Amino acid sequence: MPVIRFVREGRDVECYPGENLREVALREGIELYGLKGKLGNCGGCGQCITCFVDVVGESSPGSLSGRTRVEEQKLQRRPESWRLACQTLVQQSVLVLTRPQVGFADADQRIAAAKSDLLPAGPTSWPEPEVDPDEEASSKAEAGETTTSDEEG
Ligand code: FES
Repeated sequence: MPVIRFVREGRDVECYPGENLREVALREGIELYGLKGKLGNCGGCGQCITCFVDVVGESSPGSLSGRTRVEEQKLQRRPESWRLACQTLVQQSVLVLTRPQVGFADADQRIAAAKSDLLPAGPTSWPEPEVDPDEEASSKAEAGETTTSDEEG
């Protein structure tokens, strides 16, 4: 299975061949959007041009689906390595920099390190499931009530 190495986030995420890059990123809690995209994006239709990613160190030409007509039109004045995540299908393991228009500390070193490490066969980091402490407390209370009512019945 392909692994997407998100360089900015320092995460490797496994996906199925042919999965949409935007959908994988959103599912995994990877922030694709800058402020404009957060305020409003097209939901993956290729119209808002806010889901830019830079494909750094693409290992082979077939790692991603080819640029769509929408991308050819919308990315005319952007670097060749930039893609719209919503228009991109992942075929093989690849290194991706989200929000390439936004710089970050030690970018060159981190990109070099990401390129020098071989991509692992599977995920190396997964987001911890978010547990709302209030919700957890209420479900424990409900479980306690159920036990009590079961005992009564
Ligand atoms: S989400 Fe709007 S162009 Fe990709």
